[in-house]
Parts: sequence; structure tokens; C-alpha cells
Amino acid sequence: MVSEEPELIKSVLPSSLVAIYPGSFDPITNGHLDLIARSSRMAGRLIVAVLRNQSKHPLFSVEERLEMIADVVKPYPNVEIAAFEGLLVDFAASRGATMIVRGIRAVSDYELEWEMALMNRRLKPEIETVFLMAGEEYSFISSHLVKEVAALGGNVSDVVPPSVEQRLKKRIAAKKG
Ligand code: PNS
Repeated sequence: MVSEEPELIKSVLPSSLVAIYPGSFDPITNGHLDLIARSSRMAGRLIVAVLRNQSKHPLFSVEERLEMIADVVKPYPNVEIAAFEGLLVDFAASRGATMIVRGIRAVSDYELEWEMALMNRRLKPEIETVFLMAGEEYSFISSHLVKEVAALGGNVSDVVPPSVEQRLKKRIAAKKG
């Protein structure tokens, strides 16, 4: 369940603040959605940005991932979606974003996130990275594990939105068939 909270935080933050939540989102999980719900209250606009990265072998195309995200962010009117390539900070700047949002699950996430945040700050000091702790019920969820469990016939209904679960089932069946 994505938490429903009072609008208090929004009332004390500048509505002109544009934040960006980048990632691979292959596919979007309930953990990502929790981060979107929470960070959308911290900014006037939140851009969920999917990396176009030809070097990986994704299960879903960028367009499919954007469709899945669009479907589940409908309840959040200030959330937009986009795809990007190249440097994240350049894309953020091109959209007027001054805040990068990343989720931290376990300590194991910290090192890579620390490196990326410092590199991004070196590249564009005017853009700040803000880390949100993953909700405790989501702190073990990753797109990678979701795909593995789904591919092996496990139940992922409580870790991804229903529309994503359906797409996963279809894609995996098509791959097997
Ligand atoms: O969901 P992910 O795979 O953890 O997201 C990683 C992402 C997309 C945030 C990161 O790979 C990224 O920002 N890539 C864009 C290229 C870039 O700016 N690289 C330098 C980052 S320090």
C-alpha cells in the first residue's frame, strides 16, 4: 500500500521546485511507486525519468516501461514521465530540475549511490541529490528479483502493481513459448 499522508510537507516547499526521479524501471515496482508518492509531495513537479540504455538487455522496452509507469502514476497530478539518454544532470538541467531523488534500501545501495551523487554534484553542483529511505515493506524489492521470481513462476502480486504483474506474466509466457 502506498502511504497516504497529509499535504503538510507540500505546503512548506516551493511549488516551483522540479525534482527528477531517474532509473531503469524494468519494470516499475511498488518500491518505486512508494518513492514516487512520497517525493511527489516534496516538489511542485516530479519527473520520473527512464534511462535509454542500449547496453543493457531489458525485459521491457523503454516505451513499454513508460506505458507501465504512466498507468500507475495517474493518481499523482504533478508527476510526469520522460525518457532520457546521456548524462542525468544534463537532462535534469534541460528540464529545470534542481533535485535528483534516489531511494536507498539496504546499506549495500549506499556505495554506488554515494559515488553517483558525488559525481553528479561535481558535474552540476546546482543540482542536489536527495535520498529517501525505502519504505520498510519495500526495502527488499528490486526489479531484478521481481523478474527472476516471476520467470520462475513465483507470485509477485504484492510487490508490483497489478498492471505490471499482468505484463510480466505475458512477457514471460511469450519468452517461454
Ligand atoms: O534504476 P537504476 O538502474 O539504479 O538507475 C541508474 C541511473 C539511471 C540513475 C544511472 O545509471 C544514471 O543516472 N545514468 C545516466 C548516465 C549518467 O548520468 N551517468 C553518470 C552518473 S554519476
